Amino acid sequence: MELAKKENQQLNIGYNRLCDCKPTHINCLNAKEWVKQQVAVWEFFYEKRDIREKDIHPAVFPISLPKKCIELFTHKGELVLDPFAGIGSTLLAARDLERNAVGFDLNEKYIDFTKKRLSQEPLNFCNTQQMAILDDALNISLYFETETIALAVTSPPYANMLNHQRLNKSIRGNLRENKYFKKVQQYSNNKRDLGTMKPQEYAEALGEIYKGILPLLKPKAHCVINVNDLWEDNRRYPTHSYIIEKLEKVGYELRNIIIWDKRKLVNKVGIYGWPSNYITFSTTFEYILDFWKP
Ligand SMILES: C[S@@+](CC[C@H](N)C(=O)[O-])C[C@H]1O[C@@H](n2cnc3c(N)ncnc32)[C@H](O)[C@@H]1O
Repeated sequence: MELAKKENQQLNIGYNRLCDCKPTHINCLNAKEWVKQQVAVWEFFYEKRDIREKDIHPAVFPISLPKKCIELFTHKGELVLDPFAGIGSTLLAARDLERNAVGFDLNEKYIDFTKKRLSQEPLNFCNTQQMAILDDALNISLYFETETIALAVTSPPYANMLNHQRLNKSIRGNLRENKYFKKVQQYSNNKRDLGTMKPQEYAEALGEIYKGILPLLKPKAHCVINVNDLWEDNRRYPTHSYIIEKLEKVGYELRNIIIWDKRKLVNKVGIYGWPSNYITFSTTFEYILDFWKP
């Protein structure tokens, strides 16, 4: 795939550490804080600032998810990238933690909303910058110098998962017919929107995007992708394994697979499939894939 022909438009944004940690340390955590991070099943809860209104954005992760990744894989002052930034949860997390950050999204409505969120008062004193840019993630390499990004963390579209009428099968009984019932909640109709693509085409497109990002990462920088598998016509599409295959092919190395345990966020799980077809509902967990640049 060819990059759109654009002028080189490198951003003026900081990427150097503002802390005095030893150069070999991968984060600013002390040993006690590090131990807490070692469980490979993670739980997150929404806070007041999180946006859960699906008419604003249909698939937002809690700010605490990118926050944990930023704390684990970067130092104060370093640069974080979110290639599929949506309404900017990663940028808010970066600002809370004094990291510079840039997020990209194809959809102008989401970029505008992110800017609005960022214009609100920060939680702490802020000596770093966070920017939301309206562009295809395929163009990211035009914006950065090589080896400047310390972490890429995102939740991309889960292929064309949202591109159907919502039947709410994971919700039980009359709760199912909520205001989103039978609505299609795709991000856009843009052909470059990964949310319009079938799983194989999607995996190809994601591989191309991450190939472009790799040279921008510092050596051993981590790259975290939150994703879920798809079920369609009674078939599972293991999107997480397509992503592992594609990213390894373009030069990343898989380090950790973390399970995001969502059981406490999900109420009254539907009895889908009973009594003849056993399907483990993926609404109760998601994957967090952790790669690095070898
Ligand atoms: C799962 S959402 C991310 C939500 C985000 N984590 C948040 O909390 O707001 C995925 C986003 O990817 C965007 N997107 C899809 N294809 C894209 C592309 N080629 N380049 C940039 N963004 C894209 C969609 O517009 C959507 O907002």
